[in-house]
Amino acid sequence: MPRCLTGGSRSPALFSHCPPHKVSHIRHTVVQCGTSLSTPKITETEASPAESSAAIQGGSGTAPLVHALQSAASQDVSCFHFPGHNRGKAAPSSLSKLIGPGAFLHDLPELPELDDLFSPKGVILDAQKRAAQLFGSSKTWFLVNGTTCGIQASVMATCSPGDYLIVPRNCHISVISALVLSGAVPKYIIPEYNSGWDIAGGITPLQVERAVKELEEDGKRVGAVLVTSPTYHGVCSNVEGIVSVCHPRGIPVIVDEAHGAHFRFHDSLPSTAIEQGADMAVQSTHKVLCSLTQSSMLHLVGDLVNVDKVSQCLQVLQSSSPSYLLLSSLDAARDLVSKNANIFDEPLALASETKEHLMIIPGISVLDLPCFASDFPAIDPLRITLTASDLQLSGYEADDILYEGHRIVSELVGTRAVTFAVNLGTRVQDVEKLVQSVKHLSEKYFFTNSSKPFRENIVCDPLDKISMHLTPREAFFTKKRRVRIEDSLGEICGELICPYPPGIPVLIPGELVTHDSLSYLMNVRHQGITISGAADSELNSILVCSL
Ligand SMILES: Cc1ncc(COP(=O)(O)O)c(C=O)c1O
Repeated sequence: MPRCLTGGSRSPALFSHCPPHKVSHIRHTVVQCGTSLSTPKITETEASPAESSAAIQGGSGTAPLVHALQSAASQDVSCFHFPGHNRGKAAPSSLSKLIGPGAFLHDLPELPELDDLFSPKGVILDAQKRAAQLFGSSKTWFLVNGTTCGIQASVMATCSPGDYLIVPRNCHISVISALVLSGAVPKYIIPEYNSGWDIAGGITPLQVERAVKELEEDGKRVGAVLVTSPTYHGVCSNVEGIVSVCHPRGIPVIVDEAHGAHFRFHDSLPSTAIEQGADMAVQSTHKVLCSLTQSSMLHLVGDLVNVDKVSQCLQVLQSSSPSYLLLSSLDAARDLVSKNANIFDEPLALASETKEHLMIIPGISVLDLPCFASDFPAIDPLRITLTASDLQLSGYEADDILYEGHRIVSELVGTRAVTFAVNLGTRVQDVEKLVQSVKHLSEKYFFTNSSKPFRENIVCDPLDKISMHLTPREAFFTKKRRVRIEDSLGEICGELICPYPPGIPVLIPGELVTHDSLSYLMNVRHQGITISGAADSELNSILVCSL
């Protein structure tokens, strides 16, 4: 059992009980749970002698890549290889002081003993195999260009130019670049949208089935279905149901699981995409586990997708000088979670109690599955999304108050909501501070703002009428010109115009600027909502295709 969240002596009243939650089902090597709230601790009760000695030497344990890096860096050699900082000897001191000389010492190139990312036969292969075993895949690739390159490789490996990719309209921008790279044609599914929260949810198997049937009736080939599950806000789609629509037709299912790398490690977390039968899942290990930023994993199972093609695509998309700091951080993160069956007990208990405290604060609501009409199977319990709109505060205002007044840094802000990510490093004092700060916010604005007239609804439903004249790839390679937004009616959009939130693009390169999309954008501009991707973020002008 995890330690109860009494919060030590600081605030016993606030976090005074452990909520009931399941004891972890053991899906991997069991080692005793850590007990420190600030730093997850590994207790190596089942470490092999080799593991123990490695751990004593430098804490690398059963992480082959970490161990190889450590032993390569410890050799007394004269170096005539890249990188030019020469194992830190020529490191700029400004940075070396900041991140430590060790970071430079271990920033090594592809030395023979460190294997080759694109043709792994040694320690990288070993590390990837261990990850595959832990995550339940038949093959896992380590990625040094984030989930972005994993998504691009997955689409390129499954879709040839002209094939259709069925994808939610609120997909990550990497999917749009994957369409440009692969030449695949998108068939969009509009996700459910809650205007009260200004947040989009997932997609359903029924929507996927409709899209597949429409394409089948038109005689089109579907290369793959790509699902974002969970979304940034933690909403999971029914991947199993989507797989059961796709697999009988031989269509592979790719899951953008950027925000779900931790799902494998506790029974009260949602099922992983791979557990639900997806063919490929791409996870940002850096987002929710504990590897370095930019390091991700791509998992594959089954034989619907060609393994060699995926490897080839990754070689196209990644640097020929992959960072060993990033690669070994993936190995280390895998090692850490594989040794701690209960590692997510504490973050889960903290998040659960935090939500319980937040949802009873006057004027505050917490996002949960009933906020959506669709029957989404799960929401990540470690994502806390709240709204203070009953206090007449936008998400941006609430976020500013929490940061300026209480030094609380959130993960994501929207017009209506603020999202906080609980992770392995979250401490009792952090969540206590969050709850106390939100209480202050409520006390301050409940009476002040409740007398104000209700603020106009500033959000608008995303568009569902799309008129694609060029594929994203054709549009990408077409010459562009800039026009005033008022003059763009009837033009073919040359850039991605995606108001955030809710992160559902209004125009994707190749789409016709219609009356509806134009008036939507004018409205968005009037409200000062951020436009991601557009060259002119103020939206006074847009790039259109010159045909
Ligand atoms: C849903 C989703 N998919 C993919 C990505 C890309 O992940 P990465 O930053 O690891 O490249 C992100 C990044 O925020 C994301 O939110």
